[in-house]
Amino acid sequence: MTSSSTTTGASAAPGSSRDARHRRLDPANQPPSRPAPHTLNVDDILTDPQTHILVCCGSGGVGKTTTAASLALRAAEAGRKVCVLTIDPAKRLAQSMGLAELDNTPRSVSGINHAAGGSLDAMMLDMKRTFDEVVQAHATPEKAEQILSNPFYQALSSSFAGTQEYMAMEKLGQLHHQKDPDGTPRWDLVVVDTPPSRSALDFLDAPARLGSFLDGRFIRLLMAPAKAGGRAYFKVLSAGVNLAVGAMSKILGSQMLQDVQTLTAALDTMFGGFRERADQTYALLSRSGTAFLVVASPERDALREAGFFIDRLGAEKMPLAGLVVNRVMYSRAPQLPETVAVSGAVAMPHDEEHRTTIAILRLHAATSQVARRHQDLIQRFLDAHPGVASVQVPAASQDIHDLEALREIGAALSGTAR
Ligand SMILES: Nc1ncnc2c1ncn2[C@@H]1O[C@H](COP(=O)(O)OP(=O)(O)O)[C@@H](O)[C@H]1O
Ligand SMILES: [Mg+2]
Repeated sequence: MTSSSTTTGASAAPGSSRDARHRRLDPANQPPSRPAPHTLNVDDILTDPQTHILVCCGSGGVGKTTTAASLALRAAEAGRKVCVLTIDPAKRLAQSMGLAELDNTPRSVSGINHAAGGSLDAMMLDMKRTFDEVVQAHATPEKAEQILSNPFYQALSSSFAGTQEYMAMEKLGQLHHQKDPDGTPRWDLVVVDTPPSRSALDFLDAPARLGSFLDGRFIRLLMAPAKAGGRAYFKVLSAGVNLAVGAMSKILGSQMLQDVQTLTAALDTMFGGFRERADQTYALLSRSGTAFLVVASPERDALREAGFFIDRLGAEKMPLAGLVVNRVMYSRAPQLPETVAVSGAVAMPHDEEHRTTIAILRLHAATSQVARRHQDLIQRFLDAHPGVASVQVPAASQDIHDLEALREIGAALSGTAR
């Protein structure tokens, strides 16, 4: 499949935004023209047969899940075999993608256009089950059983900070390597959403942090009694460490400490394993078949986070495709300056007859002000990060929770909306 034929497929697909009758994206809230330099061309990325992994990252609530789902759908309708790994889809979006079951396996999404020969599977990450699978893959059945039934493991696997990020990476690695019975890759593009952490950097940092927790000093210290056994242990350790363990017993409770010790003894064979796997997936992310899209809303904090993330990708030599600025407001009548609208509203007689006109003029002034602030913030960001390709996606008047709305976001992302 050539990239030009898939591009044609994307724009001609029935059901794509061109023949959508019921547009969800507000036709009035559209950019006056496409931003000029360094426009991000998502279709080039999606239809490039060399793109195998697309990671959507950014701080919480900016639209990562929406962007990941929209791009996955667009790529599938352009002819690629796509799997989208979502982390925390909003309930209605999950339902419309057939993600009612949290069973940790990708399922085919119905309602997509297969004319170009593509397909879309979707799954929602089940962090605990992914952790269980890693344990089962690395330990003997008895040892796995011992680990999985340990109460401390149960707490660790569902609540330790960073577990979700680690497991998202783990799952990404698994999906990327999954093969069909004939030995060909099961999917040719895996689109990943990232966990709802406050900071986008957590996704890159957590695996190493969890790895160092699992093979770190703390765990080794707790493991010592299980290894050395009883008294020998107390002889070897210094008084200081003894005190520390004593204090921890008090805080954690002795049953808890025993659970941790049993667990860590059982996890012993897997140290390295975790690190190694995280390192392998990390390496996968730096390859040329991977593209990172950083998503931000046109707000100061989200753009600051996006900036940190972009700098970090640069430092790690990870392949940044560009920046998506989502939920951008535009002036609905740019030819009518905000000041004129305000003075017009003030000058008008405040009677019944003019009430609606005054309200519209004030709304226009308020919207224009937000639109101007959005463009100022975006411009400032792009000035500070020259060379970063970007695309703006308008704020829709409703939440994005069905395939048609995802198609429209996809069209906006590719600059082919309207
Ligand atoms: N362009 C948009 N216009 C309107 N609503 C949007 C847009 N993008 C996302 N949303 C809505 O914003 C909310 C948060 O989006 P989501 O993709 O879940 O963010 P994240 O995954 O970054 O936390 C969702 O309710 C989604 O429907
Ligand atoms: Mg999300």
